[in-house]
Amino acid sequence: MIRPILLHPDPRLKKVCADVPDLTDELRTLADDMLQTMYDAPGVGLAAPQVGILNRLIVLDCVKEEGETVRPLIMFNPEIIASSDEKNVYEEGCLSIPDLFADVTRPKTVQVRWMDRDGKEQNEEMDGLWATCVQHEIDHLEGKLFIDHIKPLRRQMITRKMVKLKRELGRG
Ligand code: NI
Repeated sequence: MIRPILLHPDPRLKKVCADVPDLTDELRTLADDMLQTMYDAPGVGLAAPQVGILNRLIVLDCVKEEGETVRPLIMFNPEIIASSDEKNVYEEGCLSIPDLFADVTRPKTVQVRWMDRDGKEQNEEMDGLWATCVQHEIDHLEGKLFIDHIKPLRRQMITRKMVKLKRELGRG
């Protein structure tokens, strides 16, 4: 099921999300819905608060080349356990801030630990777009958006545009 994506500004996008203590069928369904919603958008990542659920759950798939095999990842309670000193700049966007982009600097590689759809612990070093995306999504679980990493003036401009867009969509 495709779920509606919340648009910035929204108080639910500012909340620190709660840990998932135990996996339930309801949470697995939510994760599957989030993947479907992300592919449909289309996007490379989605966090539970973006569909109004304040739990520590993200999904991502940064395979963008046509013809390449998809790699949907479902991460419960994802954690960055190490990050490189070396930084990387990516022009980021967000499904909650459609069509607006900004350069964000983050660690180039990160070591991530999470619980998968079967409740098994996973651990992986991520690089490139995957590293950027997983950091962006984990930020969402802390109530943080990519625009919180950029200069206040540019952030305010983006927020003003979003307020206007939401008004036009009748979602303000
Ligand atoms: Ni986002």
